[in-house]
Amino acid sequence: MSIVELSFAAFALVGFLGIVGIVVIVTGRGPKSFNWKKNLDKKALKEDKSQTNFLEPEMPKGETEATVEEIDEPVVESDGAVKLEEKVIYEEISEEEAGITRRQFLTKALRISFGAFAGIQAISWLGFFWPKVSGGFGSKVDAGPIEEIKSQIFQADGSVIPAFIPAARAYVLPLDAAAAANSQFATGSTITDGLVAVYQRCVHLGCRVPWCNSSQGFECPCHGSKYNMVGEYFAGPAPRNLDRFNVANVNGRLVIDTGTIIESPRAPGMSVKYPQGLSCIALTTEE
Ligand code: FES
Repeated sequence: MSIVELSFAAFALVGFLGIVGIVVIVTGRGPKSFNWKKNLDKKALKEDKSQTNFLEPEMPKGETEATVEEIDEPVVESDGAVKLEEKVIYEEISEEEAGITRRQFLTKALRISFGAFAGIQAISWLGFFWPKVSGGFGSKVDAGPIEEIKSQIFQADGSVIPAFIPAARAYVLPLDAAAAANSQFATGSTITDGLVAVYQRCVHLGCRVPWCNSSQGFECPCHGSKYNMVGEYFAGPAPRNLDRFNVANVNGRLVIDTGTIIESPRAPGMSVKYPQGLSCIALTTEE
């Protein structure tokens, strides 16, 4: 069960307990084991003269007078009725025997509701910080069929437009074998099938770096750092190349491992030319 499903279930439980609590308050009905008369304070019960009927145990049906006399001292009235007065004997009983009072029931219901609510908060909090095991950023992301991605990237005029993969927060771009051989990334797992995945975050202060189609590179609008199409540093205050991820071909699909962010120093020489046209930002802050 996912965290979202778990949260929904927990919310449903809290809602159910809340409804039960409201029903108990409104109707005054609790569980079958709950007998409020039995659990009334004995002293208050004795002093409450309006409850005389309640104080008088009824004669069990079918019983004889003689039997009643054995129970307590009966008062035989003029019409022959038998009445027992103020002779009710109370015995000390344990809490287990007394069962649960309304107040105890409501207190427990409130505690359970509060506990469930706190549990939901804890689960949400844990879910926020817990590393994702599949599907999202921080895990392996399926970017789709490699051939499909390539058909998106390569344009008819020979230019390139990166495929942006939101779940991976990454741009997928081409790096052919010849260019890769001249790059810092000739070894390792950051290239597969002529594709690389570049993290969208600027390595200077973290702005999202947009793609500039005319220059065929990345140009950060915050302080003007510039990178070529595979994220190699060109200009500006950025201390290194754009970060990247390991990639793999899994049954013809591109899988981006966003669990590890791979840093690299400024490229000594760029493996892909930049700029290839006009820049999208006018100013580049000097480093
Ligand atoms: Fe991109 Fe400063 S955050 S250049």
